[in-house]
Amino acid sequence: MRKRIIAGNWKMNMTLLQAEALAGALLAGYTHNSAREAVVCPPAVVLAALRSRLAGSGIQLGAQNMHEAESGAYTGEVSAAMLVGTGCTHVILGHSERRALFGETDAIINKKIKAALLARLVPIFCVGEVLAERKAGRAEEVTAGQVRAGLQGIGTSDILACVIAYEPVWAIGTGETATPAQADDMHAAIRRVLNQIYGEVVADSVSILYGGSVNDKNIDELIARPNIDGALVGGASLKAESFLRIINYR
Ligand code: PGA
Repeated sequence: MRKRIIAGNWKMNMTLLQAEALAGALLAGYTHNSAREAVVCPPAVVLAALRSRLAGSGIQLGAQNMHEAESGAYTGEVSAAMLVGTGCTHVILGHSERRALFGETDAIINKKIKAALLARLVPIFCVGEVLAERKAGRAEEVTAGQVRAGLQGIGTSDILACVIAYEPVWAIGTGETATPAQADDMHAAIRRVLNQIYGEVVADSVSILYGGSVNDKNIDELIARPNIDGALVGGASLKAESFLRIINYR
């Protein structure tokens, strides 16, 4: 049985006061269900405050990014150990916005995944094609290439500690979702790559989340698909009502 995970990526939204209010509203409506994990990924500066708010609730904390080095002269960056110190259990790595806007390459993302694993953080490793690549019929090839490059040198026990998020870039923040069938096909393709690297048993154990305009209306249909094990939610994670409904998928 693969873990079911719903993670909210707040991106660069929510001041401290807003974040505390949203966490409070989530807590008020959240009932822990051991069959599905809930993770919120707020901006790094509010992690410590949310740690005490969410303690004991079952809602876990994740970061949106981190630096691959242990410490040192990297002005403006945060390390894996710092994230662990603020109560993080998860970290989103390789998000398409990091790739497109901040120049993150597959090689950098690979180093970050390794650093996160060393610190015992669960990497939520994001992959996905842009629209032109999909139109050119290259969605699978591009995504498979990102999976292989990101997981270079990562062994069997470590991949079992990773979560993969398939996020077609054309579906992020656009209101356009991959159809459940399209998403499921891509998840199956990612699982085939995992199978080639790690074998079937391991490939069948890794959770693959879908991300890209997931909301309270489409979650049930997406998660009903055999290869979709959860969701990485952007916009719809900024309102307690919609995020709680997504966590409570049927
Ligand atoms: P979205 O973002 O749900 O707003 O499309 C998803 C993401 O970028 O992780």
